[in-house]
Amino acid sequence: MAHRRTADLATSLIHHPYAPPAGFVSEQPGVFKASTVIFPNTAALRARNWKEKTGYTYGLHGTPTTFTLEERIATLEGGTHTLLLPSGLAAIALVDLALLKSGDEVLIPDNAYGPGKELARNELAHWGITHRFYDAMDADSLARMIGPETKLVWLEAPGSVTMEFPDLAALARVARDKGVTSALDNTWGAGVAFDAFALPGGVAVDISMQALTKYPSGGGDVLMGSVTARDEALHLKLKFAHMHLGWGVGANDAELVLRSLPTLALRYAAQDRAARTLAEWLAQRSEIARVLHPALPGSPGFAHWQATCSAAAGLFSVVFDSRYASEEVDAFVDALRLFRIGYSWAGPVSLVVPYHVQTMRSQPTAYAGVVVRFSIGFEAVEDLLADLQQALQAAFGDG
Ligand SMILES: Cc1ncc(COP(=O)(O)O)c(C=O)c1O
Repeated sequence: MAHRRTADLATSLIHHPYAPPAGFVSEQPGVFKASTVIFPNTAALRARNWKEKTGYTYGLHGTPTTFTLEERIATLEGGTHTLLLPSGLAAIALVDLALLKSGDEVLIPDNAYGPGKELARNELAHWGITHRFYDAMDADSLARMIGPETKLVWLEAPGSVTMEFPDLAALARVARDKGVTSALDNTWGAGVAFDAFALPGGVAVDISMQALTKYPSGGGDVLMGSVTARDEALHLKLKFAHMHLGWGVGANDAELVLRSLPTLALRYAAQDRAARTLAEWLAQRSEIARVLHPALPGSPGFAHWQATCSAAAGLFSVVFDSRYASEEVDAFVDALRLFRIGYSWAGPVSLVVPYHVQTMRSQPTAYAGVVVRFSIGFEAVEDLLADLQQALQAAFGDG
């Protein structure tokens, strides 16, 4: 009897007849988790359609949770179709793999996010896809570099670590006029600072990609990427590659981003405000040769930022005076207490990383001193300022 009871229990707990009443309504979307999607009959299975969001086929290709997040990111980006990926870097890889084949060339800004450049240098090169790095601050040089093999141009604003803000509209126009697909890494703008599909002069990028890891998550606890397009044919090309590569995201991660999206604009504005206050304060310090923040006059590309953006992310870099050696700047970074040492940005904790930018570029950079990047979190700005002050004093004394 006991055995029979166990067997009955297993089956009846798996195939339980209870279904909660329909009609539950809340503002918060439900979280649906499944690998297998159940079809009501074989006709429905045979009629499955995973290309459009008219139904469900398999967990990897969409659940109510991931479809909901895709639609909200499409709205955030001002696009119409979004795909989700397990990281921002995977989103970059999807664009590359979907659009490039052996013999093609991709052009990447020299100041782009480093791992995207490494992907080109390594995997893309192994597969016979060539790349060149262009100066994002010179749209004419991009126009000159585009040749018959060029099939994709990456854009990024601002440049990684050195924060130069390019003339995005001019770069997108060059790609469009040459008939080459343009893809923007829009992680910094996050869909808040500017509209990637309506740049000044009405020009649009073809694809906007984001590391949702940063602002859309905002918690520092999720890795996710998105790829958004407006053109249906382009989206389908990306979607086929997405399906073939099997890059889905988990419902719990999608849930975390869905939970954070309603506060995105408020968080972005608060981090923007705090970052500008700190950047302006640092600009007055004798230890600092230059502050690199696209919204501060005098920063590289400030006029382009002004023409393109209505806000800025909470991210900036400083160039230390060249009289300080790398070890001395490291001592400053080590002396910080609230700023934690680590990569990424847009989370609640302020972060700091020292860089040797000369080693990160194919062309020499203008900066002789050590560059340190700050990501501003949600701590009180006066506490962050006091932390910077005590660390400058601890590392450099009175200069
Ligand atoms: C500009 C930019 N793009 C893409 C990424 C990659 O995002 P993830 O860390 O989710 O792979 C990052 C991460 O630092 C980034 O800063």
